[in-house]
Amino acid sequence: MGDKQKMKRNQTAFLKEEYQELVKNNFDWRPRTLESGSKPHSIIDGKEVIMLCSNNYLNLSNHPLLIQGSIDAAKKYGAGSGSVRAIAGTLKIHLEVEKRLAKFKHTEASLIYQTGFAATAGLIPQLVDKGDIVISDELNHGSIIDGVRLSKADRAIYKHKDMSDLEKVLRDADTKYRRILIITDGVFSMDGDIAPVDKIVKLANEFGAMTYVDDAHGEGVVGPEGRGIGAHFGIEGKIDVEMGTFSKAFGVVGGLIAGSRDLVNFAYNKSRTWLLSGSHPPAVSGAQLAAINVLETEPEHVKNLWENTRYFKKELVSMGFDTGNSETPITPVIVGESKIAKELSNLLFDEGIYALPIVFPMVAKDKARIRTMMNAGLSKKDLDFTLEVFEKLGKKLAII
Ligand SMILES: Cc1ncc(COP(=O)(O)O)c(C=O)c1O
Repeated sequence: MGDKQKMKRNQTAFLKEEYQELVKNNFDWRPRTLESGSKPHSIIDGKEVIMLCSNNYLNLSNHPLLIQGSIDAAKKYGAGSGSVRAIAGTLKIHLEVEKRLAKFKHTEASLIYQTGFAATAGLIPQLVDKGDIVISDELNHGSIIDGVRLSKADRAIYKHKDMSDLEKVLRDADTKYRRILIITDGVFSMDGDIAPVDKIVKLANEFGAMTYVDDAHGEGVVGPEGRGIGAHFGIEGKIDVEMGTFSKAFGVVGGLIAGSRDLVNFAYNKSRTWLLSGSHPPAVSGAQLAAINVLETEPEHVKNLWENTRYFKKELVSMGFDTGNSETPITPVIVGESKIAKELSNLLFDEGIYALPIVFPMVAKDKARIRTMMNAGLSKKDLDFTLEVFEKLGKKLAII
């Protein structure tokens, strides 16, 4: 360093400082602990509560056939896969899942990633690069935002579900770029509303743009037999990339894409998250296979989920709660200030209901909410109890 004074740096001081800053502002996560499986009635922090914020919409994570599927696959193939898929980690059961999934989704082919996040982070940067553009709905999920950040493509945002704004952006981009990729959530995770995917696909076709739909909250939930957003709009096979996850309604874990054979060949040869990260343990694949079978043979789970959803939403609205624009089992209860949402969530827990607050900066300052997620395994009695508590606390906190 010559004559210069050597800089004294505490290289890890920021770890504590930044954490303390989060704590000071009440932005730190303090997750509660489940002492049971994720069930409609779960044991959380020593107490039985009604689960109203899990993504296990159909309660399939507790289905005996999924549990048996896991056990059988582990017995046959062992606990781990031993490698990344590309080297020595492609087991026959991984291929069976992809074949079954493509059949379920009515697409030519499908590919399984470790998670939905890994699918998006691995694939988007390969679909578009320098000289291309990604056009994204302003309320897209954080995993899409990060996936887009990994690409060198330009970015444009269109107003939430606003097709004339999307058309304007497309018109502007049309002659300037090599490839255009439109990305949207199918079901938006904060508000539970549905993207107009049929219109997006139509516009995309007019401009020669690709479509990528993140159907994490639509897979297993919307469309006949829960076959997802393509089936919901009757446009199966017409979305270029239908991306989803096994971690929510399917009750397991794992990302998926469904589309053409060309897409799948391209995706597994290019996605770095697929090529450079270990494949699923066999037990995961065994449960995934069982989940698809259950969806096809036991329609009651999707039916119960929607019956519960309609009843719960209708009653909340009739009590005077603001449930926003939700069209799905994600029902936000919008209360205004963050402080009220947090207080309501704590009081709900005291009364035996687990539902988390979503506050600024995740949503606008005056749109803090309790985000409820319906579960097919809740009974009418559970829902009536939950509604009674919501009404009591809503009045107590002057929300209704
Ligand atoms: C809209 C959306 N996309 C993607 C993901 C990521 O899925 P996974 O849990 O499979 O990584 C999530 C999960 O939180 C999500 O809500």
